Amino acid sequence: NGEQVGSGEGPQVDVAVDPLEGTRLTALGQPNAIAVIALAERGTLFFPGAAVYMNKIAVGPESAEAIDIDAPPAENVRRVAEAKGVRPQDVSIVVLDRPRHEELIGELRELGARVMLIPDGDVAPAIAAAQPGTGVDMLMGVGGTPEGVIAACAVKSFGGALQGKLWPRDDEERQQLVDGGLDPDAVLATDDLVAGDDLFVAATGVTSGALLRGVRYTKEGAVTDSLVIRSRSGTVRRIEAHHAFEKLSRFTGREY
Ligand code: FBP
Repeated sequence: NGEQVGSGEGPQVDVAVDPLEGTRLTALGQPNAIAVIALAERGTLFFPGAAVYMNKIAVGPESAEAIDIDAPPAENVRRVAEAKGVRPQDVSIVVLDRPRHEELIGELRELGARVMLIPDGDVAPAIAAAQPGTGVDMLMGVGGTPEGVIAACAVKSFGGALQGKLWPRDDEERQQLVDGGLDPDAVLATDDLVAGDDLFVAATGVTSGALLRGVRYTKEGAVTDSLVIRSRSGTVRRIEAHHAFEKLSRFTGREY
């Protein structure tokens, strides 16, 4: 947080980066780990400060107006179902598999919604929720705040919405937030998390998942799949890159 990078030339931007979103997923060879970076105009990204966790709801464009993080989870699902013209039972929601989500999961299951529990990595499903045809309609629950900011950039670029509310674990953390000028009771709308409209987001698959294929090693090197999103033009690029390790080693002087 707060690091300065670059040569000082060119446009000034805010950068939110998670070089390995899904550390455990990668270590265990489980799906959905990505490397992700978001760029926005200077001063437009929410600064997480001491806020480790945030409660989040992410959805795509059709449901952007339907969500309200202060309303009960089932109510949110009903509203999203209505916005999408489907039954609540047809809404697929990704939730991090954590004890803190026991009540949330129970409420969603009681409604009959499709709950997909993930061991880690809530950025990829938030991005998936913002796009049609991914099989993910919503991301719900408490995850990392910096991850929420990155996800908000991607979701906003697709015209979706990500609402958040900081989630201090105890009174001490709550006080730290207040001392740092953050309001733990405020609802953070997409525009509060990322105020600008000129965004770039790039994500590369590390392990395969719903959003991206992971790194595949070949005799010559590796193949990677990336998603590059530009909000202003609305262009979404899919890049398959073939990396030639020998050439790269010669070029950089590093071993691959
Ligand atoms: P890292 O791989 O960057 O550590 O994050 C993994 C992650 O699952 C995030 O996707 C998520 O927002 C956060 O950790 C959840 O935190 P916790 O594991 O403490 O519940």
